[in-house]
Order: sequence, then C-alpha cells, then structure tokens
Amino acid sequence: MISGEGTNLQALINAQIEKKINTEILAVISDNEHATGLNRAKKANIPCIYLNRDLFSSKEEFETEISKNIIELDPDLIILAGFMRVLGKNFINKLKGKIINIHPSLLPALKGLNTHERAIDSGNFFHGASVHFVIAELDSGPSIMQYKIAIKKDDNKRTLKNRVHKGEYLILVETVKLFTMKNLKLDNNSIIINGEIMKNPILYEEDF
Ligand code: GRF
Repeated sequence: MISGEGTNLQALINAQIEKKINTEILAVISDNEHATGLNRAKKANIPCIYLNRDLFSSKEEFETEISKNIIELDPDLIILAGFMRVLGKNFINKLKGKIINIHPSLLPALKGLNTHERAIDSGNFFHGASVHFVIAELDSGPSIMQYKIAIKKDDNKRTLKNRVHKGEYLILVETVKLFTMKNLKLDNNSIIINGEIMKNPILYEEDF
C-alpha cells in the first residue's frame, strides 16, 4: 500500500526480479491517483488498485473497501510502504499480524511525521529506519528490523533522508525475505520467530 513515490515498492520489485526474494506482489493499493509508485507497479505488470477516499462517506467505509480488496487478494503479507493514512483499529485488528510498515526512524523514537527534521532538531546522535508489525497504536508495533545511521555534523534533512532511504530498502527486502524463509508471527504484541520470542529487532548499520 502506497501513497507517493514508491521507491520502497521499487526496491521490492527489483528484489523480486533479481530473485533475492521469492514473492509475488499481488497488487499495489494507493489512495493517491497520482502516486509515482502506481507507474512503477504498472511498468512491472503489477495490478493497481486506486481507491479515492473522497468517494466514501467515512473513514470506516473507505477502509472496509480496502479490506474487501485485500481479502479478495488473500495475501500472506500486507506492506505499508509509504501509505500516508493512519489506519483505524477495525481495519488493523481484522488483518493483525499480517501488516508491516516501514517507518523512517529508530522506533520507538520519533513516531509520526517529519522524522528527519525532528532527528536533527533532537540533537540525537543516531537516526534510521524500522520495519515493524502494525498494531492499532500508531507506529507502536514491535520492530522486526532496524537500520541505524550516525547523524553527522553537516547532515541536513535531505542528506539524512537519502541515507535512511537506502537503509529502508535494505531492511524492507530483508524482512520480506525473512517472512518467506522463517515462521514469523505476531503474538500478543511480541514477535515469534520459529517458535521463539524475538527479543530485539535485527539491526543493520550504515557501512555494515
Ligand atoms: C519512506 O520514508 C517510509 O519510511 C515512509 O514513507 C516513505 C515512503 O517513501 N513510511 P517511498 O514512497 O517508498 O519512496
């Protein structure tokens, strides 16, 4: 599910073409008709579903339509890759354990928007990205993988974004690979991998 550029989607498409992941992207769902990601999907012959929020009288109805589409597709995994809407409890609980999100910060730090700007303003030494299971509380589900970078003195919003994005592509593809290879699930807000609780997210670092 996307709303914009779709560079994370592109990373998944590339990984699939290069056979780094053994997957089939069943469809790309967008709430934005003009999302560049839709062109990326079309180019890769992936079916696209555009759902216009304005045609639904409530958020609930809009999300019911999204979930109807998803249930019909019957995917093993739903990836929020830059889907810029906060999904409601009903939607998430219906599909809980099947939805992951890529977020541009080292969660639980910097939930929400404008994370690169906020990372610089915070005076923190580190920043990064997380792939996490989606639960009803925003950006609060347990992280499966994280990518960490050190914030340099001359970094700005743009340089941080570029460096974090590279990490996003890496951990998103690696997480999908993990899903296809291991028995990974969400149980009571803990990640279970091959029957064992995963205590910490798998960590990658820049220049790893
Ligand atoms: C990424 O930074 C992701 O972490 C956030 O939205 C952005 C999407 O970028 N959730 P793109 O559309 O994949 O280029």
